[in-house]
Amino acid sequence: MSELRRVSRLYTPQPTSDGAGVKINRIIATRELDYLDPFLLLDHFGSDNPNDYIAGFPMHPHRGIETVTYMLKGSVTHRDSMGNVGTIHTGDIQWMTAGGGIMHEEMPHASADGMAGFQLWVNLPAKLKMTKPRYQEVAANNIPVVEKDGAKILVIAGEVEGVKGAVSEIYAEPSYLDVTLEAQKTFTHAIPRGHTVFAYLFAGNATFDDSGNAIASPMLAVFEDGDAVQIKAGDETARFILVSGKPLHESVARYGPFVMNTRAEIERAILDLRHGTFVWTEDRL
Ligand code: FE2
Repeated sequence: MSELRRVSRLYTPQPTSDGAGVKINRIIATRELDYLDPFLLLDHFGSDNPNDYIAGFPMHPHRGIETVTYMLKGSVTHRDSMGNVGTIHTGDIQWMTAGGGIMHEEMPHASADGMAGFQLWVNLPAKLKMTKPRYQEVAANNIPVVEKDGAKILVIAGEVEGVKGAVSEIYAEPSYLDVTLEAQKTFTHAIPRGHTVFAYLFAGNATFDDSGNAIASPMLAVFEDGDAVQIKAGDETARFILVSGKPLHESVARYGPFVMNTRAEIERAILDLRHGTFVWTEDRL
């Protein structure tokens, strides 16, 4: 029999700033929720005032993780040490595997409509921490959409009703859905047992399990184990991202944009950065 997952805990996003002063709401990587294996960080960025974001994220390193950027509106130009340059726009996804070392910048453009989106960090297992960097960039019109029973589901990763997501071959076997759910409608989604699941509600209100307690946005719900989640919109349209992934159950040594398994590996990353040997190259051991 299928068991619905219950909410284990709710978390309110924490206003903060990062990069060169970009205002963000931090959802994971807070004092209350340091790590939700395999998810290391979730930021909801966005503002209608360019002064809140225009300074962007100048050149900075990453090692040992993947970063997933999902633009809700506006555009960001990225440039990196592998020679990639590009701009992602409203609805686009960039899934970057930093692996053994990448330097990049992420610079938003001023927009009359404002700028908003999510950045999620997914941990890599020990055996892939030093892997070759990789990008999967998906334009908005290539993200599959499933419409069912009052739900509009953008399938960024994972599978809904046999429709496979735009991003694949990710170690954590993630599901990443952007769901818009009409008032009073119910959305049910199966997730493998043992996988970590969260929903971040960013519009409207909803109930996340059968407790009957309506939750107002913005709010993060983390779920207990089970076979599926069931979310019901309240008296207005709700919108949330529903994300799941396979936990690593490995030790975590973390220092800013470096996430490794041991302190020694963090020290190595710092030394590599200092000595100009940080970025991944074909001939590096
Ligand atoms: Fe970055």
